[in-house]
Amino acid sequence: MSEALLATEEKQSAYRDYAAPQRVDGFDTVREFYRLNHMNQTYDFVRAKKAEFLQFNRRTMTPWDALDYLNTLVDDSDPDIALPQIDHLIQTGEAMRANGEPEWMVLTGFIHDLGKVLCLFGEPQWAVVGDTFPTGCAYSNKVVWSEFFALNPDIKRPELQTKYGMYEHGCGLDAVQMSWGHDEYLYHMMKPYLPLEGLYMIRYHSFYAWHRENEYQHLCNAQDDAMKPWVQRFNPYDLYSKNPNRPSLAQVKPYYEDLLAKYLPGELRF
Ligand SMILES: [Fe+2]
Ligand SMILES: [Fe+2]
Repeated sequence: MSEALLATEEKQSAYRDYAAPQRVDGFDTVREFYRLNHMNQTYDFVRAKKAEFLQFNRRTMTPWDALDYLNTLVDDSDPDIALPQIDHLIQTGEAMRANGEPEWMVLTGFIHDLGKVLCLFGEPQWAVVGDTFPTGCAYSNKVVWSEFFALNPDIKRPELQTKYGMYEHGCGLDAVQMSWGHDEYLYHMMKPYLPLEGLYMIRYHSFYAWHRENEYQHLCNAQDDAMKPWVQRFNPYDLYSKNPNRPSLAQVKPYYEDLLAKYLPGELRF
């Protein structure tokens, strides 16, 4: 990893420290975020949100319009950053570019949080951001703030609380109803445009219980196992490129304009 753009190893342990957030208002914000998230993300909620949002019938926007909107959003679930999202996306893409990662991956890094425009449609942050987890089966205690699952109504549905729940051994993550948010939403939007590796990065980048803690392997199939290293390769760029120094959009915009035009249509359906 390039030291200029990514945090050094000693500093990396300072990220994702939920007990010592960097935001002035951080502690209660992040904890309250996960209380609401774990309480409300039920199996039925996820399926209802997919039916609602995966029709992509709300509006069309250029990728830049969507990025402009993201500039106004600060993510309540993130203890590491209180910067506009566009800066995080530029930092992620630039760290990849500096390390010589493939072009499609730089693009993936640059757009990976674009699904947070769900907030534009009035969705609360607990239904958009934060770590994701499978619904419809037993919760792993490796999910951040897993104690809040006690507040989820699914905890009282025994059929959803066995190891496999609604699923079968090796069914594949595609069959699993992940908690709903920007990851799943953008994955479906980008399906026609990115290679499978990039799609996995987008869809599972917040699934830390899987890509970091190696939980839920019993639900995975061969494709998930093959793609997991790519999700893990993506993660340090998402985490450690966060830096309070703002990169200049003007400097890098021509490069990303070309990249977006090469892979994506002029307008996207949201
Ligand atoms: Fe994200
Ligand atoms: Fe991110």
